[in-house]
Amino acid sequence: MDHRLSFPKEKIKVVLLEGIHQSAVDYLHRSGYTNVVHHARALPLDELRAELATAYLVGIRSRTQLTADVLADTERLFAVGCFCIGTNQVDLDAAGQQGIPVFNAPHSNTRSVAELVIAESIMLLRGLGDKNGAAHRGGWQKSARQSYELRSKTMGIVGYGHIGSQVSILAEALGMRVIYHDIVPRLAMGNAQQLGSLTELLTEADIVTLHVPQDPSTHNLINRDRLAEMRPGSYLINASRGTVVDVDALADAVRSGHVAGAAVDVFPREPKSNDETFESPLRGLPNVILTPHIGGSTVEAQRNIGQEVASKLVNYSDQGTTMSAVNFPQLSLSAHKDAHRLLHIHHNQPGVLAAVNRVLTGSEANILGQHLQTDPQLGYVVTDVDREHADNLRGDLLAIPGTIRCRILY
Ligand code: NAI
Repeated sequence: MDHRLSFPKEKIKVVLLEGIHQSAVDYLHRSGYTNVVHHARALPLDELRAELATAYLVGIRSRTQLTADVLADTERLFAVGCFCIGTNQVDLDAAGQQGIPVFNAPHSNTRSVAELVIAESIMLLRGLGDKNGAAHRGGWQKSARQSYELRSKTMGIVGYGHIGSQVSILAEALGMRVIYHDIVPRLAMGNAQQLGSLTELLTEADIVTLHVPQDPSTHNLINRDRLAEMRPGSYLINASRGTVVDVDALADAVRSGHVAGAAVDVFPREPKSNDETFESPLRGLPNVILTPHIGGSTVEAQRNIGQEVASKLVNYSDQGTTMSAVNFPQLSLSAHKDAHRLLHIHHNQPGVLAAVNRVLTGSEANILGQHLQTDPQLGYVVTDVDREHADNLRGDLLAIPGTIRCRILY
């Protein structure tokens, strides 16, 4: 593994794959990283390996698989950016064991999802999906029956995190009453009101919108019993995860008229590509809007993702900051003025920090600041020292048993 010293930013080769948004390239250039290779597509394995052999930073989306094998062949790579939400395509443990933090952009598309939910709320209350479909087929469904305004209706938000709280703000701006349920106390936006139980929310809301994560507590959270608790004639929106709703039970609830309509963006089984047929018990039901998991898919979200992940790579490369890395101890660090910064990444085993400090105290170096963070596997210690001595220390730091990687930032 290459533990070489840091060198001018323009020599740090950054490889971006899969048509990552231009905002990432612009951000890197503005930050001094001008050696950026930008591929429009994922690369075949042999080309990927060849490209990564000389890369220090790599940006991928969901298609590129960074397996333990692929990572093991990289000599210089010191950080990975996933320009998307998920990080399953990277072997996170293997990356961590090589001292490579992995970053992503979990919240860059928050606003996009919130806007879709508001649009769908209006569509459901006006039956727009069906009226639009009929008109395209030559039909003319002019009627006010079962068409309602959003104003003064109650929006019930389940999961009041990044997206749920944005929906809350937009819904209230449209004159809705907002109630929400979350497993933890969350600060209310505007006049929104947190309710103590999901049952209370389901019995009060005209529209129920789901914004919870996929985990065991949310698996089939909205099942047959929960659907029965919803107000007769209310609506359900799911743009969270497909596992959160029992879609067979929802289909029955729509058929019976108990649920007046639904908008669903995520499904228990989703096609793997645009060529595959989409199968769901919800197909063909009245006032049911089905979208192909595009809640967060907007140009703005792609631009935000480009900037967010590029900034995380730059902050790590420039300063050693690992905040929000998904596989790494988290340190938030300010710029190191008038100092050299030693980044020491090691296996989390007893005695490494003491050994690092023995090297430092045995040298002439003046320590200006030190930060340590660990997780069960890794330790990350960052030390700022006066400029003269950093180069001399590096060899001794690398020789400490358990060391994975050591970088010096000038
Ligand atoms: P977040 O982590 O900011 O918020 C989730 C909230 O749900 C938290 O406040 C948490 O306390 C709460 N929660 C967890 N378990 C709960 C339970 N059993 N009952 C009630 N509340 C519970 O997440 P964020 O960013 O708001 O995302 C929400 C969901 O939206 C996630 O499932 C995410 O994967 C999905 N998503 C879907 C997109 C799409 O394209 N349709 C795009 C982006 C996110």
